[in-house]
Amino acid sequence: MRLKKLRFFLILTAVLCCIPATRFYEIDLPLFRFLKGQNRVDPLSLHLSGEFVESNLGTAREADGSITVRMIAQQYLFVPHCILVPAGVPIRLRVTSADAVHSLSFSDANYAVKVVPGNVSEARLQFPHAGEYKMPCREFCGAGHYAMRSRCRNVSRPVPQIAAG
Ligand code: CUA
Repeated sequence: MRLKKLRFFLILTAVLCCIPATRFYEIDLPLFRFLKGQNRVDPLSLHLSGEFVESNLGTAREADGSITVRMIAQQYLFVPHCILVPAGVPIRLRVTSADAVHSLSFSDANYAVKVVPGNVSEARLQFPHAGEYKMPCREFCGAGHYAMRSRCRNVSRPVPQIAAG
């Protein structure tokens, strides 16, 4: 009888451990980043202080000459709505979420940046030619998901060279 109870308990524990393991971006990734201690932000105070205040969003040239684009994803828009980036220059994209899990993608490119509240997602991009990209959200994030899109101007039509995530 005791052995049966123990077996039941072990099976139940195994099943309960399997459920969070299937939710990588909601549980494992934030946990990993929390333990790593990097790129943590408070989603409730994004607009008030820190790296993602309104005046710091969009395209910026850093002190070392590199280009950084900062964005916020929230139900149901990306801020800023349209970004302007130079073609042929490596760009560092830093994006975070104010509410739910979103996914910032580039039309014509099979690539998306998953955005989780509380964390900053980072990607490195380079657009070889001038042009325009649509940047829709690819993660279902609520009723307005299908209208959640942004634009990236002065970039090329071909697939951008994207490294790391
Ligand atoms: Cu944001 Cu779908």
